[in-house]
This record gives sequence, structure tokens and C-alpha cells, in this order.
Amino acid sequence: MSKPLEGIKIIDFTHVQAGPACTQLLAWFGADVIKVERPGAGDVTRSQLRDIPGVDALYFTMLNSNKRSLTLDTKTPEGKEILTKLIKESDVLVENFGPGALDRMGFTWEHIKELNPGMIVASVKGFSDGHHYEDLKVYENVAQCAGGAASTTGFDDGPPTVSAAALGDSNTGMHLAIGILTALRARDVSGKGQKVAVSMQDSVLNLCRVKLRDQQRLDRVGYLEEYPQYPHGTFSDVVPRGGNAGGGGQPGWVLKCKGWETDPNAYIYFTIQGHAWAPICRAIGKEEWIDDPAYTTAQARQDKIFDIFGTIEDWLKDKTKFEAVDILRKFDIPCAPVLTMKELANDESLRASGTIVEVDHKERGKYLTVGSPIKFSDMKPEIKGSPLLGEHTDEILEGMGYSQQQIKDFHERRVV
Ligand code: COA
Repeated sequence: MSKPLEGIKIIDFTHVQAGPACTQLLAWFGADVIKVERPGAGDVTRSQLRDIPGVDALYFTMLNSNKRSLTLDTKTPEGKEILTKLIKESDVLVENFGPGALDRMGFTWEHIKELNPGMIVASVKGFSDGHHYEDLKVYENVAQCAGGAASTTGFDDGPPTVSAAALGDSNTGMHLAIGILTALRARDVSGKGQKVAVSMQDSVLNLCRVKLRDQQRLDRVGYLEEYPQYPHGTFSDVVPRGGNAGGGGQPGWVLKCKGWETDPNAYIYFTIQGHAWAPICRAIGKEEWIDDPAYTTAQARQDKIFDIFGTIEDWLKDKTKFEAVDILRKFDIPCAPVLTMKELANDESLRASGTIVEVDHKERGKYLTVGSPIKFSDMKPEIKGSPLLGEHTDEILEGMGYSQQQIKDFHERRVV
């Protein structure tokens, strides 16, 4: 089965997580992604957080599957020549170097455009061009703090908190992938390439747009009724941290289940959907609340919402998180067990759907990774292992027309 992005050649000048997550996605969908890495070292994640001495770390293998690896010192004259040739025959160059690094290497957008007017240059930076922090290097948590996620995450009596989800890294990579596909579509029509830029701050903020919604509501009315601070606590003039509150129109909270005293993840997330009030009352054995005016509307429930959650926790005392969800699903109540990574790794449904996949690596053997979260009716992405450092250098150079002797010379001079 041919893949939709087959025939698209991508120079993958990315490292760490934000850029690699983007190009990995494009590789799954058929693009020829050539990961360009510094000879001898490669992407820093190859050696970060290693669990097997001398073998590419999972940090690398889980973000670089389905790619080819070309080692190339792009600071040498010959390395620049090879890169120039590669640019002329590629469709997209993706990079997430620190600000200005590509320009310092001699490959400004203007120069790349001259070499290949159809080229799409896609960049991730911490902050957008022209931003007063545009010179800053940025990692995941820096972006979460700069994009509004940290100030609005955690509990009111604690410090700003970052999420374990890679809102700054992989999320930015996903935004960039959308930008690249859009630019490819535009090129189909105009024949011209363009520069696509995504900043980590902007990508985090894009996911925090409901908090910007809340800031404006707070400015207008002085309180936010879906936050735990309402109605008994106080609000300042900025959106507070809302703990585990629902965040939308449906109150929700993380509730204790049987065994919570010893198992830190014996919890479910429980949502009180307005129209599901009667089924909730039936599920938890509080039928008397169904028609009680003190409980019938969301507004009436608001000032005792934590007492209601407390009553539900009483009901949950003798039920595991899985038993609880099995009961609540029959009442159509939006809820889920709080799942651990171990539970997810062994989840049969995720294995069956290809979301958790086991792949092979030449040196590591089998390992688990997250496959495509995007499912297509006509295509099932095949997730392969990640390349060893420079594994495809000779094959790529040969494909570019270099002779065996030239390739040998490049190796000897450590250009590749
Ligand atoms: N050959 C020769 N030199 C190479 C090379 C190659 N194949 N690949 C990279 N380099 C050089 C670059 O030219 C640059 O050199 P210079 O600074 O002398 O011009 C250097 O290696 C890489 O610099 P940089 O990207 O700034 O690396 P860093 O380790 O100092 O910073 C980040 C890492 C992630 C903080 C930084 O890259 C960054 O802010 N990136 C943008 C935001 C981002 O994506 N962050 C999230 C990562 S998950």
C-alpha cells in the first residue's frame, strides 16, 4: 500500500523532541526523512537517559522511527556542499536549532530559497520571530511556563506546575507538521515554497486558549464559577490554578477509589454532566437528590459541589477504579480510571489499535513506543525502529550521485 507522503523528501535537521516528533509523524505517513546528525555525536537524545550502556536511548528511539540517518558536519566546506546539493533535491527542511544557528551555518531562508524556490523551511523556536524573548533557547518546561500552562496548572495553595504531557515539545511538533502539510498543499498550487515557523510559546498558548477565555470572564465578572475557589474562596485578578476542576461547563474532579491509601493511582475522574444528574443520583444511590430543588440545577449544586464529590467518594470506597467505571458507564456518565504508564503499556485495546506498538531495534531488540494516534481508513502506518547513527550515510550519498571514492574520502576527513 503506498503512503500519501511517499515522494516527499525531508531534510530532518531536528534534535531533542519538538522537531523529531514532527518529522517522525511525516515519516510514518510515507515521507523520506533524512535525519542529518553531527558525525560521532548525533542527536543528544541518543545518549541521554540511557537504560542500556552504549545503546541509543529510548528518548531517541521513540522519536525517530521510520527515518534514515545521515551524518554530516555542516560546518566544513564539503559538508556545506553536500547539504547544498541535498537542499536542491529535497522538498522540506525541518530544524529546531537554537535561534540563528541555521543562519550562522550559512543557510539563511533567502539563500535556501535561491537554491530551491520550492523548498519549505520549517522551524521550531522557543518564541516567535520579533518576540522580545526571540533570542532565548527553550526546553519543554520553559515553554509551559511562558505559554500560560504552568500558571494555570496545579492547586491554588501550591506553586505553578508543569504538566507531564509534552505541551511545549511534541505539541509544537504537531503544529509544525500541520504547517508543513499546509505549505505543501500551497506549493501544489503556486509551485513556491515558503518558511513555516512555530514557536513553543504559541503552541502552548494555543492549547491554553480556554484559560485566556477565563481571564476575560474574570476581568468582567470577578469570579469563575467552575473553579474550586467558587463560591467559598477568593479570586485575584488573574486566572487561578484550578486543581482537577473540569474546566468547561461540567464540574469534575479526581475521586478516590478502593485502595487509594496504598495505591497512588486508585482514582477515577468523575464528571457531573448537567443533563446526567438523574442517572448520577441513581448510580450512587441518592435518588432523593433527583427532584430536590437544592440539587436539581447546576447552579444549585455549585456551593456544595465538594460535598457531592465527597458523597460519591463514599460510594466508591468499596469499588476499584475499574469496577467503578464499569458501573458508571452503564449510566452514561463521562468518567475514566486514572491509568498508569504500566497499565497503558499493557492495554490490549491500545495494542490492537496500533497506538502502543512493539518495534525492533538493531542493537536494543524490542521496545515499546507510541504509534500513530491518527487513524486512517485507507492506511495503517507501519512503525519501524529508529536508525543507528549514520546508518544510511553511504546509501544516501550514493543516491545523490557521489562515487565510492568520494564517500571514502568524506569518511576519512570526518565530513560524514
Ligand atoms: N554539523 C555541524 N554543526 C551542527 C550540526 C551538524 N550536523 N548540527 C548542529 N550543529 C551546530 C549548530 O550549527 C549550532 O552551532 P552554533 O551555535 O555554533 O551556531 C549547534 O550545533 C546547535 O546549537 P543549538 O541548537 O543551539 O543546541 P543547544 O544544545 O545549545 O540548544 C536547544 C538546544 C533545544 C535549547 C536549542 O536548540 C533550542 O532552543 N531550539 C529551539 C527550541 C526547541 O526546539 N526546543 C525544544 C527542544 S525539545
